[in-house]
Amino acid sequence: MTFDVFLARVYQAFTVTTEQLFITSRLFDREISEGLANKPSSLAMLPSYLTKPTGHEQGIFLALDFGGTNVRALLVELKGCGKSTILSRVDSPLIDPDGYYDYTLPTATACELFDFLADKLSQLTQPTQEYPLGHAFSFPFRMTDQNNAVLLYWTKEIATADVVGNNIVNLLNDAFARKGISNIKSSAILNDSVSALMAAAYQDNRTDIGSICGTGHNTCYLEPNPPWSSGRSMYINMESGNFNKVPENIYDRLLDEKSDRPGAYRLEKMCSGRYIGELLRLVMLDLIANKALLSNSTAYLDAYSLTGKDLNTLLTDTTPHLESIAQWLNQLGYKNSSLSDRTCLQKIAALITRRSARLAASTYAATLLHIDPELKQPHVIAIDGSLYEKIPGYANTIKETLSELLGTRASKITCELSQHGSGIGAAVAAATTLSLKRF
Ligand code: GLC
Repeated sequence: MTFDVFLARVYQAFTVTTEQLFITSRLFDREISEGLANKPSSLAMLPSYLTKPTGHEQGIFLALDFGGTNVRALLVELKGCGKSTILSRVDSPLIDPDGYYDYTLPTATACELFDFLADKLSQLTQPTQEYPLGHAFSFPFRMTDQNNAVLLYWTKEIATADVVGNNIVNLLNDAFARKGISNIKSSAILNDSVSALMAAAYQDNRTDIGSICGTGHNTCYLEPNPPWSSGRSMYINMESGNFNKVPENIYDRLLDEKSDRPGAYRLEKMCSGRYIGELLRLVMLDLIANKALLSNSTAYLDAYSLTGKDLNTLLTDTTPHLESIAQWLNQLGYKNSSLSDRTCLQKIAALITRRSARLAASTYAATLLHIDPELKQPHVIAIDGSLYEKIPGYANTIKETLSELLGTRASKITCELSQHGSGIGAAVAAATTLSLKRF
């Protein structure tokens, strides 16, 4: 096979046609219905017991945004009329860059992890004041009410011991007790997709879908007729990253086979920042092995050594000879790359991220048609995450794909960046659980 033919095959592997998107969208819609009917479905459809914000919520709240690789504690002031300010915040990696700790490994315990989180939160507080806390926890959990959530399983390759099967709110409250912290009151726990939705709904009550296109990928929506509560709409965390009726290629299968949970989270493994760097690595190694890229190179890339940030580096190089990409390759040990190597890598990065945005959009189209089959109402989709925010062309591809799938009806749909949505949405959620009189 010639290099060109080989490259064309790789390009084709990452192209999803309109027809494939229509099929994916229809299958996603079917999985929503099956999941709601408690039939086997790759969508977990986890209900959240929070009420829709009015936009008038006010007060000062602590928020914890636990995403997977980073944790963010925030002090948020909700001012009413959809307005909010982040008063202060502490950002901390869960993996220490100097190697002193890694709370994501199975060797780390729940106590160590939650003590770390409690410390971060207490850094933002005054001892004489009491703080209601909203906790955006970016993993699948089953709730029994707005402040009780049992972790079903870890995702995004996190494996901290003794957390799965336990109540997250209790684990955090136990850490507060161990540390003598009595002025932080857990009020609400919610998935980060619900948080993105609530932050946006606080500003615009037409928002009924929330999604994360970041390290992980997931979507939630406001279900008008939930089977669990008659007559009251509910936020449903679909755990859509686990959707498994997706058109996969050979690299997707390779990645899945070597992942922590083969077979699970197929959509997330094709779409999210945790995995798209690995897809790029697998393609690069394949091209190099077949002498279609970086000939004479002997460098090797370890599993998961590339991330969404690397794709961003590839996609943001606008220099005529792609010098930033040359530098990036040099650092990885690939010296003397040719312009055609660099152009090819940029194209592959564009294909991987474009596919991610198109697949995500096909699931949004399905969700919209589930909520409003005729698309009679305007809808806002709130999206948070580094891919949506930073990858060139990502947001636009979502918009274009919605038009491709919904035609002129797409004019009713607005996609909004829900920046800091996890933190602000957690504060909004905490506020909805408390009586407004308190503030
Ligand atoms: C993973 C988690 C999900 C979360 C998403 C985005 O898919 O399972 O709960 O919302 O990542 O962070």
